[in-house]
Amino acid sequence: MNIASKVSETGFKPASRIASVGVSRILQIGARAAAMKREGLPVIILGAGEPDFDTPANVKEAAKAAIDRGDTKYTALDGTPELKKAIADKFRRENGVDYALDEITVATGAKQILFNAFMATIDPGDEVIIPTPYWTSYSDIIEICGGVPVLIPCNAEAGFRLEADQLEKAITPKTRWVLFNSPSNPSGAGYGEADYRPLLEVLLRHPHVWLMVDDMYEHIVYDGFRFVTPVALEPKLKERALTINGVSKAYAMTGWRIGYASGPRALIKAMAVIQSQATSCPCSVSQAASVEALNGPQDFLKERQESFRRRRDMVVSALNAIPGIDCRTPEGAFYTFAGCAGLLGKTTPAGKYIGTDSDFTDHLLEEAHVAVVPGSAFGLSPYFRISYATGVPELEEALRRISAVCVALG
Ligand SMILES: Cc1ncc(COP(=O)(O)O)c(C=O)c1O
Repeated sequence: MNIASKVSETGFKPASRIASVGVSRILQIGARAAAMKREGLPVIILGAGEPDFDTPANVKEAAKAAIDRGDTKYTALDGTPELKKAIADKFRRENGVDYALDEITVATGAKQILFNAFMATIDPGDEVIIPTPYWTSYSDIIEICGGVPVLIPCNAEAGFRLEADQLEKAITPKTRWVLFNSPSNPSGAGYGEADYRPLLEVLLRHPHVWLMVDDMYEHIVYDGFRFVTPVALEPKLKERALTINGVSKAYAMTGWRIGYASGPRALIKAMAVIQSQATSCPCSVSQAASVEALNGPQDFLKERQESFRRRRDMVVSALNAIPGIDCRTPEGAFYTFAGCAGLLGKTTPAGKYIGTDSDFTDHLLEEAHVAVVPGSAFGLSPYFRISYATGVPELEEALRRISAVCVALG
């Protein structure tokens, strides 16, 4: 379903730029699950893209202090100097990359960063290469901006990672960007140094292609996986790379809406032009809170990481114990992306045929009352995504129900 076909029946004429943008499948599933819950059904939703932890107390205090001192007005267009300084320090301290304050931008979430970047750089028909599965907003934003998402399938056997020859083949004269997201939403796959190196070699040979990286899940990695951001590996790409990050996932601050990025001055300036006509500036109070998040104590990150790791291990082993399901162990984020090829072609006890991953996840919602998202929503089938950023008892119950429903398929 896309917005255009739905709303035109009412006589409303939407702009052509949203004609091909679908209503997020994730939102549709969430809405359906919430409606079932309201009807009194014991629905467990494993679809949320946010940590179940609270925002740290010191961050909340910093926000309260900001309100009390009157930091309640418009701020500098793309971030206060204090926050830009905290971000520059973070990039230096954690990633080993140096950026001046005018090479840094702050927006209302990483989502607005992506929007600003594509709005500022994409002309009609420009292509953006996206390793798939991918976070659905990427392609929607690109399409709204008139660009063409070029989706390159990266299956479980490839560790859900793009390989150098795939990148080489996908590049055309119209390629504007390639976009990496490590660790990934939805697959949890991470690109280590050895995975990135050959890809960066390809990019060095194609100077017209810019590199966008979404490092949002940087702090949620497991088993000694060494997170690395490409500009630190290949400084020659710095002049055509945008490195995106934010406080949403690491600091459990999804509602505060602060994302940021570093990149070449000219790009950062162009992005500010877009932002100036959209939101003027990010929320003043949230910016003050984010300064504290980045400058304050960081030790809780390890504890939270460990809590996510325990849940990841539990989910991966419970899924792999179900015949027909095959789950790769993710390097990071709080998602599993399990294959369900072994369940396709089966029928439910009520005689319904399971032909696709969507049939399977619909059946899970109807019979097990567990909401998960089919791989098709992220561009790769047959898989399904579980977000394990939820309490252990609920997760255990959900996995019991998933197992029972799968075993009953004939
Ligand atoms: C990979 C990825 N990037 C960016 C975002 C958006 O983050 P923000 O809350 O900063 O807009 C998300 C949120 O789900 C995400 O999964």
